[in-house]
Amino acid sequence: MEIKVDMGERSYPIVIKNGLIDEIGGCISSLGLEGKAAVVTNSLVGGLYGEKVVEGLMSAGLDPVLIKVPDGEEYKTLKEASVIYDGLIEHRMERSSAIIALGGGVIGDMAGFVAATYLRGVPYVQIPTTLLAQVDSSIGGKTAVNHPKGKNLIGSFYQPKAVFIDPQVLSTLDPVEVRAGLAEVVKYGVIQDGIFFKFLEENRDTLLQPGPELTRAIERSCEIKASIVSADEKESGLRSILNFGHTFGHAIESLTGYGRFKHGEAVSIGMCMASRLSVKIGFASPEAEERIRGLVSSLGLPAEPPDLSADDFIGSMRLDKKVANGRIRFVLVTDLGKVMLKEVDEKTLRGFFGEAEPAAMPPL
Ligand code: NAD
Ligand code: GLY
Repeated sequence: MEIKVDMGERSYPIVIKNGLIDEIGGCISSLGLEGKAAVVTNSLVGGLYGEKVVEGLMSAGLDPVLIKVPDGEEYKTLKEASVIYDGLIEHRMERSSAIIALGGGVIGDMAGFVAATYLRGVPYVQIPTTLLAQVDSSIGGKTAVNHPKGKNLIGSFYQPKAVFIDPQVLSTLDPVEVRAGLAEVVKYGVIQDGIFFKFLEENRDTLLQPGPELTRAIERSCEIKASIVSADEKESGLRSILNFGHTFGHAIESLTGYGRFKHGEAVSIGMCMASRLSVKIGFASPEAEERIRGLVSSLGLPAEPPDLSADDFIGSMRLDKKVANGRIRFVLVTDLGKVMLKEVDEKTLRGFFGEAEPAAMPPL
């Protein structure tokens, strides 16, 4: 299947096909890319698929080099980006030379950032190898590295030339990572497509392994993400609905030190909390909340928040980079497949957490 991300002259295809990694040389040369190329990956994914991709590029007449960084979010840094720049300079990469990001979201974000900045921008291609990267991070051009003070603080919007997705590479992925990616898949059903949500409910038992149902879930997720980022590349409006579950989720990740929950797990809890808030405010029916909670739970994802106070949550959510003028904005469910953006005041939030608002100071 081929899906178009429609951004005028920066439009690009998302190609989804089982076994695509075996045809990758032809895919890259079909984009008109030739000459030198750098495959940026990590030690784990590089060991599994690095040689295959390099050989594919060579057989298509390109001159590739493999650049490996250590595996882990802690290496998504300017320091590690600098190691990649060193490799590009050593390989004498030119402005027309392509960077191929082979890995999960960490590699995709960092290689994309390097592509955006090396020689003021070189073409790059995403070959996402985690479910999260296939349905989310490889599409839409958000590139970044982390700063010690926060995640993704240094980055830019920079679109790839293509996204090549081979669902079969998920057969080597840890099931915990597959589940984490499924949280984002569920998100697409909730925000845009109630029929897709029902498909996920009906196929909940087969979605954890590569197969036709997981491939269909990847395809529909990519269609939804592509249509949203095509309409609003820089997140000035519609793209914010992709943050469903993320306001609570980011607070959970940050308050628990980014180690206890995977991003997708925190988003899963966040989606359940946002659904409960939607019911509390009177936007959604209890049935919608129960179905969201039921689906994530049956996929083995957490639904309940860890033991954190209203003060913890509200304090952390106020620091979120998407907060404007101190007001916390949520994506709330109105029905399965429909959401809306809504600012929620502190009194309502405290009521939601079952706590009274702090008493005003008595007059002196
Ligand atoms: P990840 O890149 O760390 O990958 C998870 C683990 O799976 C790693 O150990 C990786 O080496 C391994 N792995 C990857 N593919 C594999 C495969 N096929 N077989 C075996 N192991 C494999 O994590 P992730 O969840 O893919 O990405 C998280 C990152 O994505 C975060 O840095 C987050 O900020 C970013 N992100 C970006 C966007 C965006 O729009 N740009 C959206 C969401 C998340
Ligand atoms: N992952 C959210 C976005 O791409 O906007």
